Amino acid sequence: MKTHRIAVVPGDGTGPEVTAEAVKVLKAAAGEHGFGVDLAEFDFGGDRYLKTGEVLPDSAVDDLRAFDSILLGAIGHPDVAPGILEKGILLRLRFELDQYINLRPVKLYPGVDTPLKDKGPDEIDFVVVRENTEGLYTGMGGIQYKGTPNEVATQIMCSTRAGVERCLRYAFEYARKHGKKKQLTLVAKTNVLTFAHDLWWRTFNEVGDADFPDIKRDYAHVDATCMWMVKNPEWFDVLVTCNLFGDIITDLGAMIQGGMGIAAGGNINPKGVSMFEPIGGSAPKYTGKGVINPLAAICAAQMMCAHLGEQAAAESIEAAVMKVTKEKLESLSAGKMGYSTSEVGDLVASIVA
Ligand code: IPM
Ligand code: MN
Repeated sequence: MKTHRIAVVPGDGTGPEVTAEAVKVLKAAAGEHGFGVDLAEFDFGGDRYLKTGEVLPDSAVDDLRAFDSILLGAIGHPDVAPGILEKGILLRLRFELDQYINLRPVKLYPGVDTPLKDKGPDEIDFVVVRENTEGLYTGMGGIQYKGTPNEVATQIMCSTRAGVERCLRYAFEYARKHGKKKQLTLVAKTNVLTFAHDLWWRTFNEVGDADFPDIKRDYAHVDATCMWMVKNPEWFDVLVTCNLFGDIITDLGAMIQGGMGIAAGGNINPKGVSMFEPIGGSAPKYTGKGVINPLAAICAAQMMCAHLGEQAAAESIEAAVMKVTKEKLESLSAGKMGYSTSEVGDLVASIVA
């Protein structure tokens, strides 16, 4: 029997509650589909930082490298200044583990409300491939003459040919393997970012011409993409974009697929250790109340199974989630599901098993 070693980082706020349900479902799927999971928990997050002053111990990155995958709950603590935990844990892991893809499916499940009028599961089903280690997230730039009227602040959008190309190749491959229309849309801002996004545009076309002639290439400016995601989401199949644009459009994507209660993503290093997470935050005001929706974390576990090659398990988790959204939950919002957090986990686990 194959056993996957999984590092679990429950994190802050409601992170531990939703992670517990994801683990419950993961174990049910493992039992049903004949593989093992060997879990090790890590306490990285706001509480540990407030107690010890250490955001991430030096050994953490190497420790995590020894696992097959990482399941993350949420990072973000109301008593810690913004940026410290996000940069010190989430972004540091993405960068140091070279998780250069952030994969975010935007799929409306049956029974789930979308704010988009006249759109349903047939119209809202696409995937965003977000570059995850470059762009505006590298921390390059700086502040000069701070606090004076002449203060200058720069934040550099860094795009490398190698970084852009590996992301585009992943997206082309993804469209070839999973795309419904075999269509890849580059989302950028070539009319203004005439250096960084010119590189994206040229690489997109070169790689597409050379190696992916079977994939239909499409382009949309990021502002227009926001418009189409609301007006005609059915036009999209696979989208590929830079780090910050991907961050922004996937929050819009999360809303049209039913909200942060269901949206999941994977930070992927195709040759290394990947990390799966619900894309919402730690929602501290709901901590310990048992009202938060665990489906996003469960969907993260589902993506993790697919990534680990446990395709049947992934499919059974997705089918169970769809059954629960369709037949059981009154709403995906915290406190309005008609069930507690652990009851939702039980429902999904019982269908999977
Ligand atoms: C996300 C989050 C992070 C990001 C934050 C917490 C640093 O918003 O995963 O989308 O900007 O990437
Ligand atoms: Mn975000």
